[in-house]
Amino acid sequence: MVWNDDPISTITITWDQDESVNNPAIYYGETDHGRNYRKYEFEQSEARIRNNYDMNTHFARLKDLKANTAYYFVIKDEQGVSERYWFKTAPDTPQPFTFVTGGDTKSSGGPLEAGRNSNRVAAKLRPLFVIYNGDFTSGDGTNPGRWETWLRDWHEQTTTDDGRMIPIVPIHGNHEDGDMANLTYIFDAPYQYNDSTNVYYSLKFGGNFFYMVMLNTQIDEGGAQREWLKNDLEQHQNYAFKMAGYHKPFFPHTSGKGENQYQYDQWAYLFYQYGLDLSVDGDSHMHKITYPLKPDSTENSFMGFIRDDKNGTLFVGEGSWGARPRPNDDNKPWTLISGSVNQIKWVHVVPGSNEEKAHFKIFTVLTADYDENNNLISYNQDIDALTEDNLFDLPQNIELHSTGSTQQFVRYPF
Ligand SMILES: [Fe+2]
Repeated sequence: MVWNDDPISTITITWDQDESVNNPAIYYGETDHGRNYRKYEFEQSEARIRNNYDMNTHFARLKDLKANTAYYFVIKDEQGVSERYWFKTAPDTPQPFTFVTGGDTKSSGGPLEAGRNSNRVAAKLRPLFVIYNGDFTSGDGTNPGRWETWLRDWHEQTTTDDGRMIPIVPIHGNHEDGDMANLTYIFDAPYQYNDSTNVYYSLKFGGNFFYMVMLNTQIDEGGAQREWLKNDLEQHQNYAFKMAGYHKPFFPHTSGKGENQYQYDQWAYLFYQYGLDLSVDGDSHMHKITYPLKPDSTENSFMGFIRDDKNGTLFVGEGSWGARPRPNDDNKPWTLISGSVNQIKWVHVVPGSNEEKAHFKIFTVLTADYDENNNLISYNQDIDALTEDNLFDLPQNIELHSTGSTQQFVRYPF
């Protein structure tokens, strides 16, 4: 299940259809009819079929959905009816919600298992959506078996016990570089300038509340992409909460990864100029959260950033959904916290009300680590899953990355 258009009124359901079986379609509606497909109010067959990587991938684009509404569905073809699943559309007014973000999974060994841990934790947290920061499989993103494993895992492990599917918001990483249009084959991801190798796009919901832009660090961050970004930020500057997601960080927090000065030059000032609150990245296989930062070229800055608690952007990352954690040995003066663990970020976004100001909270949820004998240690696999009635509660006994104080989360504004 993918968000690639208006999350309030549309959703894309994608599946690998047995080619020898005809007439597959989604049967869906607001009432749960279980697997009794005839009773569902609406029917939608695929709008697009792709045959990449040994799959017969069908994309059904559901439209004209109601905001903040649960929809139940099955996929039915001439031979059978799927399990009954359901999803929820995004709200069209400012309302609190949670999302999960992270990236970088691998296709074998401990890292594959660590990624599965993260998938299961994501399902237990029951977020509105997941921003996946790129690097889905080992290699260059053109191996059919690895995609099959990734997609099967994602389906089985990020679906909640009651069949709720969590939409993914995909981002292109360097392990997809074998074909720059990869995410359009797998997720029907949006692209720009009528060129499917330009996979970057933005989504928004909640009235003028929430805007997110998914960028692409594997093509030129300047030129056409920068032009598009500037224009898109300009058009959405009145949104209350704005964030960006992309794969490679400007300045990684592990020493083995190079600095991306050109990327900083193209984007950092735009982020600040248009009031970006949050940025999420991946690639380095570790955990970091910075102080709110603004670009600055004076001698008081470090690597072009200076702390600005009022208007700065919080930079969060760096991609250890499953890949083996690298050392956090490259902190900066403006680093708030870092760690070398497998983790996903759980973000609570809360609009302003009479009781409290608009803010967001970031929880760093542990999913795996390794002991001295190189054995995988799992975290949070036995926590109770949240339900529709307690989406903002902390599951009992949840293990979070310690901030060195009693604080369980980073809240912004501080
Ligand atoms: Fe990467």
